[in-house]
Amino acid sequence: MIFRELNHGKCKAYLAISEATRKAAIIDPLRDKVERYLAVLAYHGLRLDLIIDTHTHADHRSGAMELGALADAPVAMHRLAPAPHVGIHVEDDQALKVGDEELRILHTPGHTPDSISVLAKDRVFTGDVLFIHGTGRADFAGGDAGAQYDSITRKLFTLPDTTLVFPAHDYRGHTQSTIRDEKSSNPRLAGKTRDDYINLMNNLGLPLPDGIQESLQPNESDLDAGTLKFPTLAQLNQVRQLSAAELRDRIASSNPPMLIDVREEEEYRGELGHIAGARLIPLKELPERTEELANLKTRDIVAICRVGVRSATAAAILTGLGFEHVWNLKGGMLEWKEARLPVGEESESLRCRA
Ligand SMILES: [Fe+2]
Repeated sequence: MIFRELNHGKCKAYLAISEATRKAAIIDPLRDKVERYLAVLAYHGLRLDLIIDTHTHADHRSGAMELGALADAPVAMHRLAPAPHVGIHVEDDQALKVGDEELRILHTPGHTPDSISVLAKDRVFTGDVLFIHGTGRADFAGGDAGAQYDSITRKLFTLPDTTLVFPAHDYRGHTQSTIRDEKSSNPRLAGKTRDDYINLMNNLGLPLPDGIQESLQPNESDLDAGTLKFPTLAQLNQVRQLSAAELRDRIASSNPPMLIDVREEEEYRGELGHIAGARLIPLKELPERTEELANLKTRDIVAICRVGVRSATAAAILTGLGFEHVWNLKGGMLEWKEARLPVGEESESLRCRA
């Protein structure tokens, strides 16, 4: 397998090539470099077989969906990734083929819940979980410093010491490291207990990254700010949450809420299914379709999506438009399914028969 770094900047994207088949994968493509990637692929006579985003990025627009559409290649992300149009939802230890070569996925949450690392031959692409002599932040977008410590020490640091480390960012001009170097001299990790690490990460006192408003929600929803006026983080933080069990009970009550599923139609009819009676209004159509909901302003409304991220955006938008009783299904249909609650026609049985 041949590897190349494609951006030569602070945000890293990597090309992995199967020499025998001339098939390739791109890891963490940037939106504003998609044309350059297509040119590189064409110049080298490569067919793009796979695109991987190591996580939902907050500091730049991902090029994964656009590159996938232009090159007709599937996008792989962890199953907890909120974005629609992810063709392959991966889990820990899953293998992905690139021609005759194999990439292995490690679920390494902490920077975000959907963070993965990609193991390929002698190297590991660590996304924003482990940097060269640093680690990615764990203080927004579902970050969890304890989970990050565990991902690094129990998964990445159990790889062979000689494994090369390639992160998704570097701000100091480094290009690669090794697991041995990071174990022995990463200042955030060497000699630190889990509690030390959590303390350190929770007290970094850093401002939110530049452009988080322009990147995070668009990447979570695969929509641009031109399509949707995204709520502010403060508005998002005010969204009321319902667990799957709480929603089940409310559906069974004598005053069930109106359910609005904001996924794309193929997701609504896809593998996770939907709750009976949930009205499908894809997030991108919500602003122009609120008139349909005009007589529901005082009704209880629960917004639903895959993992509860796009629906939080929808709930904040509806609240901003004067809907008074809006909730978000926390964890989305993924959590609903994990709680073994019924979908489709079976979920009719939840409703109160009184
Ligand atoms: Fe990131």
